[in-house]
Amino acid sequence: GANTMWGGRFAAGPDAIMEAINASIGFDRRLAAQDIAGSRAHAAMLADTGIITADDAAQIDAGLLTVLSEIEGGTFAFSTALEDIHMNVESRLRELIGDAAGRLHTARSRNDQVALDFRMWVRDQADAAVTGLTALIEALVGQAEAGADLVMPGFTHLQTAQPVTWGHHMLAYAEMFARDRARFADARARMNECPLGAAALAGTGFPIDRHATAAALGFDRPSANSLDAVSDRDFALEFLSSASICATHLSRISEELVIWSSAQFRFVRLSDRFSTGSSIMPQKRNPDAAELTRAKVGRITGAMVSLLTVMKGLPLAYSKDMQEDKEQVFDAADSLMLALAAMEGMVRDMAPQADNLRAAAASGFSTATDLADWLVREAGLPFRDAHHVVGALVKLAEDSGRDLPELTLEEMQGAHPAITAGVFDVLTVEASAASRLSYGGTSPTRVREQAARWREALAAE
Ligand code: ARG
Repeated sequence: GANTMWGGRFAAGPDAIMEAINASIGFDRRLAAQDIAGSRAHAAMLADTGIITADDAAQIDAGLLTVLSEIEGGTFAFSTALEDIHMNVESRLRELIGDAAGRLHTARSRNDQVALDFRMWVRDQADAAVTGLTALIEALVGQAEAGADLVMPGFTHLQTAQPVTWGHHMLAYAEMFARDRARFADARARMNECPLGAAALAGTGFPIDRHATAAALGFDRPSANSLDAVSDRDFALEFLSSASICATHLSRISEELVIWSSAQFRFVRLSDRFSTGSSIMPQKRNPDAAELTRAKVGRITGAMVSLLTVMKGLPLAYSKDMQEDKEQVFDAADSLMLALAAMEGMVRDMAPQADNLRAAAASGFSTATDLADWLVREAGLPFRDAHHVVGALVKLAEDSGRDLPELTLEEMQGAHPAITAGVFDVLTVEASAASRLSYGGTSPTRVREQAARWREALAAE
């Protein structure tokens, strides 16, 4: 038969394929709570402005609460024929309260309704991302405090570069995740305008109060242009781009955990809680959580590219293409929250292996720069000349299978006569790290200061 919702103009019902491609109820049921909150605010406003009676509004409100409890209780019968969450809720409301249900959609369209629901859902996810990131930053700061003195190799090109401290490395990620957090907060602030009341696209002739519904639903203001309100999904794109950058950071730290937990590195031991075994190889401790967190960036960035591509070239105002916004965002948000929680757990639990870190830091001539700096400072050499002298000493050490501190003073002096025994003081990895006191540098002193700054900032939130 004809569709019950717009049967007035239609003699025949939709083809099964039409119904299949059109329906979004399979996924937009996740917007049920937002849909009902939006409808309750709308109905209250319609009554306050005299557009519907207080009695109808009261029936609508009670009915919507019943629908919500049915959905939350799992007893609600979702119908594909009813296309989406908006129609499913309204249809059930009519079953429950009769004709008054038909007044709810006054001065409203599914176009502003879905823009509202989805915006509120994404807003919640932005908040959840901020919360998840805060917990992750706290875990990193905890590692930095405990490991401010642990010396490890710092890399460029994954080749030994200079000694750094574990705490410094942890706080590098804290900085990145704090910027991610700020991006989610910025996106949230920008998206916090209420599209409800834009109606189909042009606004409405009914004397609605958009400021009232905006305030009731926690928005800063109603959106200023009805066409824009129902046409754009940049709030979702901003969420996805923030999520993509964050997922990229998560992928990088995951990659480090995968490398560091290998038998070849042994920099860190992941806890049993965040490792898996192998069904065949008894010795295995696999970093599956880190690998999966490393991989989530694929679907998250994929979602961003997907929605950007859906939105490009769409004429104003609403087009059904925009129904394709939700699954991508749902999946990206689910993936991100899971990845954040997994990373927080891994970071909290992991145990840096101090002896292995130190031994690795001391290999690969990691204090060559310190020797060059010593020649500049103590012997007045131009840095370029010092670089050349040290290069020769590294070659000598390498050719004889030794590290720099194992060269004799005579060998050192063979490369440059101004070298004295004092040079050996700067060749240990501890001395190297401790000397890097410049603001933002890796010395334990600076790391402790930064960790304290983080603690203060986190406590003040
Ligand atoms: N299910 C639709 C969506 O997700 C709701 C809006 C439908 N609007 C319309 N004019 N058909 O976008």
